[in-house]
Amino acid sequence: MAEIDRGLVEQILELKKVRKAIILAHNYELGEVQDIADFCGDSLELSQKAAVTDAETIVFCGVHFMAETAAILCPGKTVLLPDLHAGCPMANMITAEALREKKKEYPGATVVCYVNTSAAVKAESDVCCTSANAVKVVRKLGNTGEIIFIPDQYLGSWVAQETGKSLVLWPGYCPTHARILPEDIKKRKAEHPSAKVLVHPECRPETKLVADAVLSTGGMIRFARESDAREMILGTEIGIIHRLQKENPEKRFFPVSEQAICPRMKLITLETILWSLQSMRNVVTVPDDIRVKAQRAVNRMLEMS
Ligand code: 13P
Ligand code: SF4
Repeated sequence: MAEIDRGLVEQILELKKVRKAIILAHNYELGEVQDIADFCGDSLELSQKAAVTDAETIVFCGVHFMAETAAILCPGKTVLLPDLHAGCPMANMITAEALREKKKEYPGATVVCYVNTSAAVKAESDVCCTSANAVKVVRKLGNTGEIIFIPDQYLGSWVAQETGKSLVLWPGYCPTHARILPEDIKKRKAEHPSAKVLVHPECRPETKLVADAVLSTGGMIRFARESDAREMILGTEIGIIHRLQKENPEKRFFPVSEQAICPRMKLITLETILWSLQSMRNVVTVPDDIRVKAQRAVNRMLEMS
């Protein structure tokens, strides 16, 4: 790994105090970004943290929908996304307009939206979910009639299987996770036969079939901490290996594929964090009419979690 610029880190920590800021980082962020964060977590944990922080500024090291979710939950705070180009391609696979059209086909259906969506899409949805609580949220809906699940078809088909409910799916997917294939897992497993295989629910169904557990990134962190397994193969974005190795130095972690990189997550660097704190630019805001409706869907999820 490249040498970390200590001066850069000190400047960030200094400025963080001046701006009364908290730094939140997703588990896929670069190691040096995770290391300076006040809190690292999965999408659910990050939104829960944003909802309760008393900091005035939130520096969100993640992708756009995550910063937007913080802005939905914290209207009085300044939410910075160090690089505004850090968007999630899956979130861009559905628009509010397209969802309104879909709803016309299924009048009265309940819309469950994955948190990987824009605020405008959340505003058109009944309840939000993350990969950590999607099964729980859909189970808790009970017998509400038809459910439209957007936008991840692979998370959706897994939730349908786990809950026994038939869901109307949207053809979205994560380009990073869709590239993780069963044959890659089999190859790694041949190299490390006693390793447990953990995959993210955004992986394809055939990839999930060859895994020992299907978990959110936060679930993987807990599994690694609590399980007796000494070796694990991770079917998700490789940024998580940094945290796993740091927290469990006596265990060994292998990515299914070194190619499983989310390029947008990697746009957040120490340099862009410092720049955003200096300039207070790249503020993520959500117009009030959309925010109020989107907040209903996010709060409903937080109450159900
Ligand atoms: P988690 O909520 O499991 O951290 O996943 C977020 C994500 O974007 C996965 O690609
Ligand atoms: Fe989006 Fe996939 Fe990146 Fe997660 S890993 S932020 S779903 S593109």
